[in-house]
Amino acid sequence: MNAKTHASPLVMPEWKALEKHARSAASFDLRELFSGDANRHDDFSLQATDLFLDYSKNLVTRETMELLFALAEARQLGLAIQEMFAGVSINTTERRPVLHTALRNKSGEAVTVGGQDVMPEVHAVLDKMASFAQRLGSGEWVGHTGRRIRHVINIGIGGSDLGPVMASEALKAFRHTDIDVHFVSNVDGTHLAETIRDLDPAETLFIVASKSFTTQETLTNAETARYWLVEELDDDAAVARHFAALSTNEEAVTAFGIDPANMFEFWDWVGGRYSLCSAIGLSLMIAIGVDNFYAMLEGFHAMDRHFVEAPLRENMPAILGLIGVWNNNFLGADTHAILPYDQYLHRLPAYLQQLDMESNGKGVGLDGTPVTWQTGPVIWGEPGTNGQHAFYQLIHQGTKLVPADFIGFCRSHNPFGDHHDKLMANLIAQTEALAFGRTEEEVRAEGIDEGLVPHKVFTGNRPSNTILADVLSPRVLGELIALYEHKVFTQGILWGINSFDQWGVELGKKLASTVLSEIQSQAEPDLHHDASTDALIRRYRASR
Ligand code: F6P
Repeated sequence: MNAKTHASPLVMPEWKALEKHARSAASFDLRELFSGDANRHDDFSLQATDLFLDYSKNLVTRETMELLFALAEARQLGLAIQEMFAGVSINTTERRPVLHTALRNKSGEAVTVGGQDVMPEVHAVLDKMASFAQRLGSGEWVGHTGRRIRHVINIGIGGSDLGPVMASEALKAFRHTDIDVHFVSNVDGTHLAETIRDLDPAETLFIVASKSFTTQETLTNAETARYWLVEELDDDAAVARHFAALSTNEEAVTAFGIDPANMFEFWDWVGGRYSLCSAIGLSLMIAIGVDNFYAMLEGFHAMDRHFVEAPLRENMPAILGLIGVWNNNFLGADTHAILPYDQYLHRLPAYLQQLDMESNGKGVGLDGTPVTWQTGPVIWGEPGTNGQHAFYQLIHQGTKLVPADFIGFCRSHNPFGDHHDKLMANLIAQTEALAFGRTEEEVRAEGIDEGLVPHKVFTGNRPSNTILADVLSPRVLGELIALYEHKVFTQGILWGINSFDQWGVELGKKLASTVLSEIQSQAEPDLHHDASTDALIRRYRASR
């Protein structure tokens, strides 16, 4: 790991130059920036792979971008990218390389971990997944009673759930078989109960997805699912035909009772939230078919190559990351909205929430000292146009600065009448309204009541990115996800944090296990938490 990414960015002259520049940014006006520069759109937009990014509606000038590029260079972003792809142990607190890019490496080149090329293993697992998906889809793989499998339930949580859920929703138009794919994540029994309510166990296959195979929620759901299956089919042996596992932990999978032959392996150098292209994608592969899954991998790889090869000034993930740093650290924006104008992408904000917030929600730098600068923003969002009738009011006229990414497609999979024109008209109009607003004079010119004028003014100058592609396909989805993965990476490098660990989830897990034993204790437990926690446990025990 290079020294520059360990250092505080605050002491760097490039950071200080941006701080100074940000003081003049208070007077930036997007109306003036556009009217004074006929090339602004052309110069502040770019095409990479199948994605087009327009970042001209941000509060940036050419000078801002040059200062940001200088910061990225000073932080040695290019070297950091090379290191990640080369398998350097950049996840320092877990002492691991970060090689999700190897999962979709289509270059034919070796990727080595500890001197060993991992590509043969990657291909072997993909082949095993493909064969399993094909056997299920063709009906060659039957359940314990000889019936075809009609329902697949992925049991997992976090990175072992959100990617396959998001992508199988996103690619519904590419559904390949008549097998329905379902997802159970929450330890709330309602999630499993409502999913299996109308299903026939003889036609149902469970995929237990857990990198660690120790996650409480997943194992609890898996045990209940096994109980349901064995009870209903009245045979312990049924587990062999109705359970598969996706994990790095063969011992725990075997201890659970799943045949290792039905286990699809991945490796500790794949982070949970970066694991969609690994065995974790099996439910997605079943849903969309092997060819579409491979097309998605091609898309990921195309964006990976772009990130490695494109110069900084033409590098889409780097630019998106730098603009996010500008908004977050220099303009004071605490949140970032993800607004896909495509119903199929309705789970994208939730997916990006984990990707971004679990990666960059960090309070110490790589050297373990507390950061004194802002790190990852709060990521949130909903599909357009629904959000327009809910929370956009605050984005347009509220007191907070909320940068947003608008994501849309030129062609729809469901071209009913003029629905799609209306959808896209709304996307484009929202970015215009946010950027340019409506002045007092313009409002007054509409001839409205003077008392209403201040209420109808839109200040404008509210930043947004627009990301467009022709049509949402498996390949384009892969490009889009990789774009955000590398954006998050770029920001982690600029902030000098480890984007690949997640120690912040540990304390809650540990405390929950203590509280659980107190809740379930036969004898009155001797509670020594604080007054609030003790009282909540007693109240729950009294009424459960
Ligand atoms: O919540 C923490 C976390 O470790 C995530 O990073 C991960 O994606 C999720 O739990 C699930 O973990 P596993 O795949 O090991 O069950």
